[in-house]
Amino acid sequence: MRSAWQAAYVLLKPHIMEKIQVLDKQFRPYIPEAEVKKRVAAMAAQISSDMEGRNPLFVAILNGAFVFAADLFRDISVPAEISFVKVSSYMGTDTTGSVSDLIGLTEDIAGRTVIVVEDIVDTGLSMKHVLEMLQAKKPAEVRIAALLLKPDKLEVPVNIDYCGFKIPNDFILGYGLDYDGYGRNLRDIYVLDTK
Ligand code: IMP
Ligand code: MG
Repeated sequence: MRSAWQAAYVLLKPHIMEKIQVLDKQFRPYIPEAEVKKRVAAMAAQISSDMEGRNPLFVAILNGAFVFAADLFRDISVPAEISFVKVSSYMGTDTTGSVSDLIGLTEDIAGRTVIVVEDIVDTGLSMKHVLEMLQAKKPAEVRIAALLLKPDKLEVPVNIDYCGFKIPNDFILGYGLDYDGYGRNLRDIYVLDTK
Protein backbone atom coordinates (compact mmCIF):
# COMPACT_ATOMS: atom_id res chain seq x y z
CA MET A 1 0.00 0.00 0.00
CA ARG A 2 1.17 3.55 -0.73
CA SER A 3 2.17 5.73 2.22
CA ALA A 4 0.70 9.23 2.49
CA TRP A 5 3.90 10.90 1.27
CA GLN A 6 4.09 8.56 -1.72
CA ALA A 7 0.52 9.45 -2.65
CA ALA A 8 1.34 13.15 -2.30
CA TYR A 9 4.41 12.70 -4.52
CA VAL A 10 2.29 11.08 -7.22
CA LEU A 11 -0.07 14.06 -7.07
CA LEU A 12 2.69 16.70 -7.10
CA LYS A 13 5.01 14.94 -9.52
CA PRO A 14 5.79 17.33 -12.36
CA HIS A 15 3.99 16.39 -15.54
CA ILE A 16 6.73 15.68 -18.06
CA MET A 17 5.99 16.01 -21.76
CA GLU A 18 7.95 13.72 -24.00
CA LYS A 19 7.64 12.11 -27.43
CA ILE A 20 4.78 9.67 -27.66
CA GLN A 21 3.67 6.94 -30.02
CA VAL A 22 0.01 6.84 -31.15
CA LEU A 23 -0.83 3.94 -33.49
CA ASP A 24 1.89 4.01 -36.17
CA LYS A 25 3.05 7.61 -35.64
CA GLN A 26 5.34 9.57 -33.32
CA PHE A 27 4.24 12.89 -31.86
CA ARG A 28 6.25 15.49 -29.97
CA PRO A 29 5.12 18.02 -27.32
CA TYR A 30 3.58 21.15 -28.80
CA ILE A 31 1.31 23.17 -26.46
CA PRO A 32 1.36 22.24 -22.75
CA GLU A 33 -1.97 21.84 -20.96
CA ALA A 34 -1.29 24.84 -18.69
CA GLU A 35 -0.85 27.12 -21.68
CA VAL A 36 -4.01 25.80 -23.33
CA LYS A 37 -6.02 26.34 -20.14
CA LYS A 38 -4.72 29.89 -19.74
CA ARG A 39 -5.79 30.72 -23.29
CA VAL A 40 -9.17 29.01 -22.86
CA ALA A 41 -9.82 31.05 -19.69
CA ALA A 42 -8.99 34.27 -21.57
CA MET A 43 -11.34 33.28 -24.41
CA ALA A 44 -14.11 32.54 -21.90
CA ALA A 45 -13.61 35.92 -20.23
CA GLN A 46 -13.90 37.70 -23.58
CA ILE A 47 -17.00 35.69 -24.59
CA SER A 48 -18.62 36.30 -21.19
CA SER A 49 -18.09 40.01 -21.52
CA ASP A 50 -19.47 40.07 -25.09
CA MET A 51 -22.45 37.87 -24.15
CA GLU A 52 -23.69 39.91 -21.19
CA GLY A 53 -27.53 39.79 -21.27
CA ARG A 54 -27.68 37.68 -24.46
CA ASN A 55 -28.42 34.20 -23.07
CA PRO A 56 -26.27 32.41 -25.69
CA LEU A 57 -26.53 28.76 -26.69
CA PHE A 58 -23.14 27.11 -27.10
CA VAL A 59 -23.13 24.41 -29.77
CA ALA A 60 -20.11 22.16 -29.36
CA ILE A 61 -19.04 19.95 -32.25
CA LEU A 62 -18.38 16.34 -31.27
CA ASN A 63 -16.15 14.48 -30.96
CA GLY A 64 -13.10 16.75 -31.00
CA ALA A 65 -14.46 19.75 -29.09
CA PHE A 66 -15.61 17.86 -25.99
CA VAL A 67 -12.56 18.73 -23.86
CA PHE A 68 -12.30 22.34 -25.07
CA ALA A 69 -16.06 22.83 -24.60
CA ALA A 70 -15.94 21.47 -21.04
CA ASP A 71 -13.13 23.83 -20.04
CA LEU A 72 -14.47 26.85 -21.94
CA PHE A 73 -18.05 26.48 -20.74
CA ARG A 74 -17.10 26.14 -17.08
CA ASP A 75 -15.28 29.48 -17.35
CA ILE A 76 -18.33 31.25 -18.82
CA SER A 77 -19.71 33.62 -16.20
CA VAL A 78 -23.03 34.67 -17.81
CA PRO A 79 -26.22 32.55 -18.03
CA ALA A 80 -25.81 30.21 -21.02
CA GLU A 81 -26.82 26.79 -22.35
CA ILE A 82 -24.76 24.18 -24.15
CA SER A 83 -25.70 21.49 -26.65
CA PHE A 84 -23.50 18.91 -28.37
CA VAL A 85 -23.88 18.07 -32.05
CA LYS A 86 -22.05 15.73 -34.33
CA VAL A 87 -20.58 16.25 -37.77
CA SER A 88 -17.57 14.41 -39.10
CA SER A 89 -15.25 15.13 -42.03
CA TYR A 90 -11.92 13.74 -40.97
CA MET A 91 -10.27 10.39 -41.66
CA GLY A 92 -6.67 9.81 -40.60
CA THR A 93 -4.42 12.80 -41.28
CA ASP A 94 -6.20 14.00 -44.41
CA THR A 95 -9.58 15.73 -44.62
CA THR A 96 -12.09 14.06 -46.93
CA GLY A 97 -13.87 17.32 -47.60
CA SER A 98 -17.24 15.59 -47.33
CA VAL A 99 -19.32 16.17 -44.22
CA SER A 100 -22.49 14.59 -42.84
CA ASP A 101 -25.49 16.30 -41.23
CA LEU A 102 -25.85 18.05 -37.87
CA ILE A 103 -27.05 15.40 -35.44
CA GLY A 104 -28.42 16.21 -32.02
CA LEU A 105 -29.49 19.86 -32.13
CA THR A 106 -32.89 19.71 -30.43
CA GLU A 107 -33.01 23.31 -29.19
CA ASP A 108 -34.99 25.95 -31.08
CA ILE A 109 -32.30 28.45 -32.02
CA ALA A 110 -34.57 30.94 -33.83
CA GLY A 111 -33.73 34.44 -32.60
CA ARG A 112 -30.93 33.20 -30.32
CA THR A 113 -27.25 33.95 -30.18
CA VAL A 114 -25.36 30.76 -30.97
CA ILE A 115 -21.68 30.18 -30.30
CA VAL A 116 -20.21 27.26 -32.21
CA VAL A 117 -17.45 25.55 -30.24
CA GLU A 118 -14.93 23.72 -32.41
CA ASP A 119 -11.57 22.15 -31.63
CA ILE A 120 -9.81 23.07 -34.86
CA VAL A 121 -10.56 24.75 -38.16
CA ASP A 122 -8.45 23.26 -40.93
CA THR A 123 -9.87 23.65 -44.48
CA GLY A 124 -12.93 25.34 -42.95
CA LEU A 125 -15.28 23.08 -44.92
CA SER A 126 -16.93 21.46 -41.90
CA MET A 127 -17.37 24.85 -40.23
CA LYS A 128 -18.93 26.28 -43.39
CA HIS A 129 -21.33 23.35 -43.49
CA VAL A 130 -22.22 23.75 -39.80
CA LEU A 131 -22.81 27.48 -40.29
CA GLU A 132 -25.13 26.86 -43.24
CA MET A 133 -27.15 24.33 -41.27
CA LEU A 134 -27.41 26.69 -38.29
CA GLN A 135 -28.27 29.77 -40.38
CA ALA A 136 -31.20 27.85 -41.92
CA LYS A 137 -32.74 27.75 -38.42
CA LYS A 138 -32.80 31.59 -38.27
CA PRO A 139 -30.68 32.37 -35.20
CA ALA A 140 -30.15 36.03 -34.23
CA GLU A 141 -26.40 35.61 -34.60
CA VAL A 142 -23.81 32.85 -34.91
CA ARG A 143 -20.29 33.29 -33.57
CA ILE A 144 -17.42 30.83 -33.71
CA ALA A 145 -15.05 29.85 -30.91
CA ALA A 146 -12.25 27.62 -32.21
CA LEU A 147 -9.34 26.52 -30.06
CA LEU A 148 -7.02 26.11 -33.04
CA LEU A 149 -6.84 27.48 -36.56
CA LYS A 150 -4.54 26.55 -39.44
CA PRO A 151 -4.84 29.80 -41.45
CA ASP A 152 -2.76 28.53 -44.39
CA LYS A 153 -5.06 25.55 -44.94
CA LEU A 154 -8.32 27.48 -45.14
CA GLU A 155 -10.07 26.74 -48.44
CA VAL A 156 -13.20 28.77 -47.72
CA PRO A 157 -13.42 32.08 -45.86
CA VAL A 158 -14.44 31.50 -42.23
CA ASN A 159 -14.58 34.33 -39.74
CA ILE A 160 -13.43 32.99 -36.35
CA ASP A 161 -14.70 35.35 -33.65
CA TYR A 162 -12.74 33.71 -30.85
CA CYS A 163 -9.54 31.88 -31.78
CA GLY A 164 -7.23 30.21 -29.26
CA PHE A 165 -4.10 29.54 -31.28
CA LYS A 166 -3.08 29.99 -34.91
CA ILE A 167 -0.81 27.12 -35.92
CA PRO A 168 1.09 25.99 -39.03
CA ASN A 169 -0.12 23.15 -41.26
CA ASP A 170 0.99 20.36 -38.95
CA PHE A 171 -1.16 17.49 -37.74
CA ILE A 172 -1.79 17.71 -34.01
CA LEU A 173 -3.53 15.65 -31.33
CA GLY A 174 -4.45 15.67 -27.66
CA TYR A 175 -6.89 17.79 -25.62
CA GLY A 176 -9.79 16.16 -27.49
CA LEU A 177 -8.12 15.98 -30.91
CA ASP A 178 -7.44 12.54 -32.32
CA TYR A 179 -5.44 10.53 -34.79
CA ASP A 180 -7.80 7.83 -36.11
CA GLY A 181 -9.75 7.93 -32.87
CA TYR A 182 -6.79 7.81 -30.46
CA GLY A 183 -5.00 10.45 -28.42
CA ARG A 184 -8.06 12.44 -27.36
CA ASN A 185 -7.30 11.74 -23.69
CA LEU A 186 -3.84 13.34 -23.78
CA ARG A 187 -3.83 16.42 -21.55
CA ASP A 188 -1.30 18.33 -23.65
CA ILE A 189 -1.34 19.04 -27.37
CA TYR A 190 1.20 17.14 -29.49
CA VAL A 191 2.34 17.55 -33.09
CA LEU A 192 3.21 14.86 -35.63
CA ASP A 193 6.95 14.27 -35.48
CA THR A 194 8.15 14.21 -39.07
CA LYS A 195 11.88 14.09 -38.23
P1 IMP B 1 -11.93 21.04 -41.78
O1 IMP B 1 -13.29 20.78 -42.32
O2 IMP B 1 -10.86 20.69 -42.77
O3 IMP B 1 -11.75 22.45 -41.25
O4 IMP B 1 -11.69 20.00 -40.65
C1 IMP B 1 -11.99 20.25 -39.36
C2 IMP B 1 -12.04 18.99 -38.56
O5 IMP B 1 -10.98 18.10 -38.92
C3 IMP B 1 -11.83 19.34 -37.10
O6 IMP B 1 -13.05 19.48 -36.47
C4 IMP B 1 -11.02 18.17 -36.58
O7 IMP B 1 -11.89 17.21 -36.06
C5 IMP B 1 -10.30 17.61 -37.79
N1 IMP B 1 -8.89 18.07 -37.83
C6 IMP B 1 -8.36 19.03 -38.59
N2 IMP B 1 -7.04 19.18 -38.38
C7 IMP B 1 -6.72 18.26 -37.44
C8 IMP B 1 -5.49 17.94 -36.76
O8 IMP B 1 -4.41 18.51 -36.97
N3 IMP B 1 -5.57 16.95 -35.84
C9 IMP B 1 -6.73 16.28 -35.55
N4 IMP B 1 -7.89 16.57 -36.14
C10 IMP B 1 -7.90 17.55 -37.08
MG1 MG C 1 -13.91 18.32 -35.00
